Amino acid sequence: MLAFAIFAVTFVVVLIAAVIYFYPGSTKTSTIPGMDPTDPREGNFPDIGAAGSMHEFLANLHETYGTIASFWFGTKFTVSIASPELFKEHMGVFDRPPEVFALFKPLIGRSSIHYANKADGRRRRIMYDPPFTQANLRNFCGTFNELACELEKKLLGLPKDEHLPLMQYCHALVIKALTRIFFGDYFKDEGNILKFRHSFEICWSEMETSLTQGPAEDGSDRDKKFKEALGFMHDSIRAIMKKRKAKPVVGSTLFIDVLLENELPEEQVLDDCLSYMMGAFHTSGNLMAWTIYFLATHQDCQEKLHQEVTKVKGQVEQSQFDQLKYLHHVINESLRLSILTPYAARFQDSDTELGGHIIPAGTSVYHALGVVLEDPEIWPEPQKFDPGRFSVDNITQRQETGFQPFGFAGKRSCPGQHFAYAQITIFLAVLCRTLKFNLVEGQVVVPRYGLVTSPEEEIWVTVEKRK
Ligand code: HEM
Repeated sequence: MLAFAIFAVTFVVVLIAAVIYFYPGSTKTSTIPGMDPTDPREGNFPDIGAAGSMHEFLANLHETYGTIASFWFGTKFTVSIASPELFKEHMGVFDRPPEVFALFKPLIGRSSIHYANKADGRRRRIMYDPPFTQANLRNFCGTFNELACELEKKLLGLPKDEHLPLMQYCHALVIKALTRIFFGDYFKDEGNILKFRHSFEICWSEMETSLTQGPAEDGSDRDKKFKEALGFMHDSIRAIMKKRKAKPVVGSTLFIDVLLENELPEEQVLDDCLSYMMGAFHTSGNLMAWTIYFLATHQDCQEKLHQEVTKVKGQVEQSQFDQLKYLHHVINESLRLSILTPYAARFQDSDTELGGHIIPAGTSVYHALGVVLEDPEIWPEPQKFDPGRFSVDNITQRQETGFQPFGFAGKRSCPGQHFAYAQITIFLAVLCRTLKFNLVEGQVVVPRYGLVTSPEEEIWVTVEKRK
């Protein structure tokens, strides 16, 4: 009898071990609910593809398994969190798993800040953050006003019914501001901006293509085009570095001067210039386009905004931002509803606890920022554009904690947050004083969720001069 009991116990133990060994879904040692891998090598990549994007995959995942859920990023066990309470628990974590930006390495380079963790990552943030602090923004407001007025003048001169490509206009405006503020006078020359922008767009589009079609083959047309465009941007930055090194500006707060002052290796300067450009360009440009689109489709909101911005006369200064409260709500609601940046991620080196579960050391934890932004329990009627949600009287503590379009964890949230708000505040305050935006009829605007959310196709608008 004893012999049989020993046999039975041994058999069960061996059976469990065999199941764990042969069936990858069972290798999970965590108590977190979630998906098994659909493929031993690809994990849940096929499901991410079928969902259409990482954001849509995470939305399905959390709908099925709750606010903390697991999946397989290839062969890597991965966790995702989607609630204000869980965000709060993960506030202190700094390090970012390299796989989040792995596909962008050909553009931003291996020395990019996006891959810098631990002491190196923290040191870089301390070094690079000063140009983008709220205190330093006043140095840029003049440029934002100048560029907004230039565009306003151009738009005022166009026929009322002309169809305008909104994304193109917004990207053109934003790249002018960014290149000038990152790199200085070199980009006062229109020709230099156009060539730089063209090269950046080629590289970005190659990155997007590689997401769906895989990386370009060495020597292929795609590869040659990409390398040529990247080479052009590197050469432009090198030329700027040379000029500014030859005539250093004492106390300059331009990003490039901060990098040069710290005497960093050239590779790091090039990679971080392009990393900041990648962080800033499509985010700011798309935010501006989404906001104008929402205003054009909600004329009551555009009217209310017009009433507010007309009270601010002349150049819009940082000290007047307090008078532009409704504009701030409009920007926040556009960030929320567009789900502009759907996710971020972190990892830790040791086993930790999150939401009552153990997270094994090295596990990537995704912050499903976008899933929380459209959670109906947090935002009633989440698909409705309603800037009033953000008024002091309406916003709840849970909503404030859950509203994290710039990330939130470990003093590593977006360094360009104040910059992005200042830029769009001035652009929209100037433009909405004299112009009314209308949507060209017959368009169906569909979002495409990527690292940054864009409309699937160009949005066409008309502008009307206000009386
Ligand atoms: C509407 C505009 C923007 C949005 C919604 C946005 C959003 C984000 C998010 C979600 C992250 C990831 C944060 C995390 O991992 O927790 C991020 C990182 C980053 N953003 Fe932004 N961003 C915007 C504009 C900008 C601008 C204007 C700049 C440049 C001045 C910028 C530069 C960066 C950089 C360099 C990082 C990586 C920082 C690091 O690794 O420490 N972003 N951004």
